[in-house]
Parts: sequence; structure tokens; C-alpha cells
Amino acid sequence: EQLEVANLEKIFITRKLPDEVVNPLREKFDVKMWHSDEISMTYDEIKSQARDAHALWTVLSDKVDRPLIESLTNLKVISNLAVGYNNIDIDAAKEHGIIVTNTPGVLTETTADLAFSLLLATARRVTEAERELRAGKWKSWTPMQLTGMDVFGATLGIIGMGRIGEAVARRAKGFEMKVLYHNRSRKINAEEEFGFTYVELDALLKESDFIVVLTPLTPETKGMIGERELNLMKKTAAIINVARGGIIDEKALYNALTSNRIWAAGLDVFEVEPVPLDHPLLTLPNVTVLPHIGSASIRTRMAMMQMNADDIKAVLENKEPKNKVI
Ligand code: DGY
Repeated sequence: EQLEVANLEKIFITRKLPDEVVNPLREKFDVKMWHSDEISMTYDEIKSQARDAHALWTVLSDKVDRPLIESLTNLKVISNLAVGYNNIDIDAAKEHGIIVTNTPGVLTETTADLAFSLLLATARRVTEAERELRAGKWKSWTPMQLTGMDVFGATLGIIGMGRIGEAVARRAKGFEMKVLYHNRSRKINAEEEFGFTYVELDALLKESDFIVVLTPLTPETKGMIGERELNLMKKTAAIINVARGGIIDEKALYNALTSNRIWAAGLDVFEVEPVPLDHPLLTLPNVTVLPHIGSASIRTRMAMMQMNADDIKAVLENKEPKNKVI
């Protein structure tokens, strides 16, 4: 029996995941898992504890860079519990013949729901209003207290028109919004089907009442919304980021908000996560913040984990995984 265990391929999981997802893997593989579902492993802990792993199952806050990849000499597959994979050095993985898998598709509608929630919450100052009520500031019904911006009939600009962008645009139709988008490539079929319009980035920034950022974080998109871009926005407009921190330059955003060059921001993602509680953006009442919960519905998170589990199993059994990034 000892011998058998030694021959099993090894899976290392950097978070504690539910038994119902992990136990089936234990029947065929030697599975090791971090003890906590909320405390992250440090980089060095992953490096030492995953040393002999054939499969590394990560979350988006795990930095899987070239030195880590090169130190894990048995590695065949990295499965990331996210559709985004900016935390992984894809080139290094590719060079070493390591497959990387992610979780596209299953989280599209869930993330679009959250994007729209954050848009509505930012427009109508929902979290600010709740804070005021709980702080005892609701003294009377006041004509202009906590008044926000109308979403119905407004112009929505979507930066990054992938699966989630399209799902947000479909929701916007129900609010009779005019939808503009900017993307690396035109989506002609979707334009015709859903009636949204491609524009250059500057035009989108100038014309939109709400801007939703949905691009992946890459060297090209890092800081793509900076001082110049924020200056192009309407003074009454709000910007929502449900993609990755760092696409919007946080210092430039803070300056634009404090000088009233834009009206509000809704952020589910930050350059550093968890965002430090003394972050300047958190001091502003017109910034609505969430702790990176775009895909956080029970069904979707379970589906994401199952996708990763299936792909790890496929690779370790020399089969083709379904969701290969490379
Ligand atoms: C992703 O999938 O990339 C999200 O950020 C987490 O679901």
C-alpha cells in the first residue's frame, strides 16, 4: 500500500476547498491541501509545500511566477480558480510544457449580475445610504439627501467586450441604456444582435454616463485608465471596475474623484488585495467598494471548482483538459 501511495500523482491545493469537490480526486491521486479557506499561503509556503506536485491548484491571489514554476520540477498542470490568469507567468509555464487551465463561461452571468449590482449601487449611493442610516444620520425625509444618478436610459460604456461584457450589455437593454463598447476587436454579430455600438476609447470615455471595465489585466491594459482618460469623462459619470485592480490607475482615480472631475466609482478589485483599510480611496463617500466578489455565488463557485478538478484529473490521466489557457 505504501508503494502505491508513493506512485500516485500529487496534487497540491493552495486553499481549503470543499470535500465534495476534493474527495473524488483523493481516490486516484495523492492530494495535499492548505488548511484554511481564507488565509492565503505565502509564496514561500507554496514553493516548499508544493515542491513535488504534479498539479498545482491555485487561486487568483497566488503569484505563480517563473522562479516558482521552475522550482516545481514535477509540474504538469496549474489550474487557477478564476477566468483571469494574470497571476501566472504563462510564458514560463509554456516554455516548460506546463498546461494552465482556468474557469471561463461558468462565471459569466454571475459576474455580470455583480457588475450591474455595483453599477446600480454606485449610481444610487446604496452602500453610502446604508452607512448613513446605521450611523443615525436619517433624521427626516430630505428632498436632496443621498440623491444619485439615473441608470434607466443612461449611456453605458463597456471597456473589454468579452463574454462578461456582452452579459452586462444584455442586462443594460432592460434598463433601456444606450450601450457603447471598446474592445481589441469588433464584435459585429453581437453588435447586430444586441444593438450596441463600437467606439474608440476616447469617445467612450467622453460619452458614457457609466463605464464598466472588463478587460483582462495585461501589460497593455495596466494603467490604461489614467489621468488623461479620467479627464475625458463627464463630471457626472461613474466608473466601475469588476476586472482587475491596476487597469485603472488608483492615484489618478483618487485625484479625479477628489477634484470632482468625475462623480463616483465602484470597485470590486484593487491593485493590492485585500485593499489596505487606510487606502485613500476608502476614505471617499462616493466610492463603493466590494471585496472581489464578482463570481461569488454558491452555484458558480462550485462549478468553477468542479471545472478545475475535472481539468486536473484530465491532465494527470493524459487526457485533454477542457479549459486550457495554453
Ligand atoms: C476571475 O474569475 O478572474 C475572478 O476575478 C474571480 O472569479
